[in-house]
Amino acid sequence: MRFSAFVFDAYGTLFDVHSAVRRYAGEIGPEGQILSDVWRAKQLEYSWVGTLMGDYADFWAMTERALDFAFRKVPSVDPALKSKLLEAYWHLDCYPEVPLVLSALKASGARLCVLSNGSPAMLESALRSSALGTVVDDVFSADMVRKFKTHPSVYELVTTALRVYPDAISFQSANRWDVAGATRFGFRTVWINRSDQPDEYRDHPPQFILPSLEGLLTTR
Ligand code: LAC
Repeated sequence: MRFSAFVFDAYGTLFDVHSAVRRYAGEIGPEGQILSDVWRAKQLEYSWVGTLMGDYADFWAMTERALDFAFRKVPSVDPALKSKLLEAYWHLDCYPEVPLVLSALKASGARLCVLSNGSPAMLESALRSSALGTVVDDVFSADMVRKFKTHPSVYELVTTALRVYPDAISFQSANRWDVAGATRFGFRTVWINRSDQPDEYRDHPPQFILPSLEGLLTTR
């Protein structure tokens, strides 16, 4: 095995953040995708801005505050759906190929980890809902350092715990900004470009670009 561990980002990479809104599409109406996009964008913005200013509240707080903003930004959606959407976030769908790819990597002897901005409780719940809890060896949450990615101390959680150099880690993320942070830190990175986005962060390119996690089974 070339890598000491395969480390996965969680939201957008293993779990579909838009599946919460999709679950209530009928009640939400035609602006559901806009609501979901604003929700996700603000959740991330709040995490980056907090870390930059030296402030910290966990990713669940970012998620709640971002949804409050999204409801105000998209007034056609009934804010009474708030509790249903927040509840759904604890049980997001994983992408269809995830269980098979993770099991195959595991069967080939790989150590599998999750490294996410999500709080430990959020990650535990999402992994349990998708029955991935048993296949994942270690879960690292940004909460352990009270800073969010792309702060290097978050990526460092992995190398410190596993006692390896960064280049011994294969890191997979669908978030291009996260791939940039991980590349900068020294991981071998794979960008899972699920929605065919243009490349960016040219100073910190991924080693591989794949449309889904499936290709990992051949590029490892
Ligand atoms: C994660 C989010 C930010 O770290 O995608 O899981």
